[in-house]
Amino acid sequence: MKTGKKSIELLNKAVGDEVSALHQYMYFHFYCDDQGLDLLAGLFKQTAIEEMLHVERLAERILFLKGEIELKASAEVQKIHQVKEMLALARRMEEGSAHAYNVWANECAANADSVSKQLFESLVVDEERHYDQYDTEAENLAQYGESYLALQSIERSKTRSAARAQGAA
Ligand SMILES: [Fe+2]
Ligand SMILES: [Fe+2]
Repeated sequence: MKTGKKSIELLNKAVGDEVSALHQYMYFHFYCDDQGLDLLAGLFKQTAIEEMLHVERLAERILFLKGEIELKASAEVQKIHQVKEMLALARRMEEGSAHAYNVWANECAANADSVSKQLFESLVVDEERHYDQYDTEAENLAQYGESYLALQSIERSKTRSAARAQGAA
């Protein structure tokens, strides 16, 4: 079916973007975790998990349309270690995904594939939420600077020492 072919192509492009986001956020999670930045580490991990669930929903639709899932990242992981740059890239990625999915939802509608259209629209809702979360953290960082990062590290030290004290009791 011609309709299905175009949708499969778009769905696979989305899979590529989602896999890239998933890899990039896992990478950021590892570095934030290593630096004791628990809040950011947790945010990147949670978002990576959500992107994985997006891959799953896209893959299910591709299989329904009798397509093949091209599980390839569309971009290489960028080896960024500065929190400010991590958040800037994350925002660009979410903005890019939200824009692409809006366009692709319209393309699917034009091809009379309303289910793929709805899938893309529902992903836009998530990507805009992700964007907003990263934007809030970027604003916090801009407003409070290094103390925003230092506070996260101090929180971890307190949690760890409390856990040690409990273990000793
Ligand atoms: Fe996503
Ligand atoms: Fe996202």
